[in-house]
Amino acid sequence: MVRAGSLPHPPDLPPLVVLLPDGALMATNPAFAPLLKGQPVIPVIAVERLEDAVPLARALAAGGMKVIELTLRTPVALAACREIVRECPETVLGIGTILTPDQVTQSVDIGAKFLVTPGTSEKLAQKMADCGAACLPGSATVSEMVQLMEWGFSEMKFFPAGPAGGLEYLKAVAGPIPELRFCPTGGVSPLNAPDYLAQPNILCVGGSWIAPKAMIAARDWAGITKLAAEACAIRPRGA
Ligand code: 3PG
Repeated sequence: MVRAGSLPHPPDLPPLVVLLPDGALMATNPAFAPLLKGQPVIPVIAVERLEDAVPLARALAAGGMKVIELTLRTPVALAACREIVRECPETVLGIGTILTPDQVTQSVDIGAKFLVTPGTSEKLAQKMADCGAACLPGSATVSEMVQLMEWGFSEMKFFPAGPAGGLEYLKAVAGPIPELRFCPTGGVSPLNAPDYLAQPNILCVGGSWIAPKAMIAARDWAGITKLAAEACAIRPRGA
């Protein structure tokens, strides 16, 4: 690491390092955990047809899933979020797969209650830091977690949870950094969710199995309500 003043430096060149004031990037958003109100699993959904957005959100709410994450992975995603905010007041909408600072602004403007990124650049973190919505910035390694911590985030997504080390990884992180709280997604299922949820540094888990593509395509709202109710009944193993 280069410290200011640690190297002889020619006077005609600009300084080697620019020191930012401490806390230049410091997240001050509302916390995510209180939004959950006991819901242990968050459905991660993608909407291909705009007209499916509201029935899908209602089907999930009917099964007990008021907290949902709609991903910006389809052309209609932002419009779908807008409709859910307008038509489904019981739904606590999170917007996921946020990849750009503009999408942070758009999501907050739409009325998202929380924002989720798969991974987090400094630009994204900067935009999220005081955006006014709860944030789950994505992380997959201890260094990324420490970086997010330096920026003032203590709740984060762990993605892609399975490939990145799964439950064992988060258990290991709890040793040196017990204060962080995670929402693992990617490879979480009804089979391993109880184990994840039993870990004290895990707030909730996310997954796409509650609203699978094929069931949305078939408009199987009753089937999705049933899957949502089953997912809501998942409890930490041993509880
Ligand atoms: C996500 O973005 O969180 C994941 O794509 C959801 O992962 P899953 O499809 O393995 O549940």
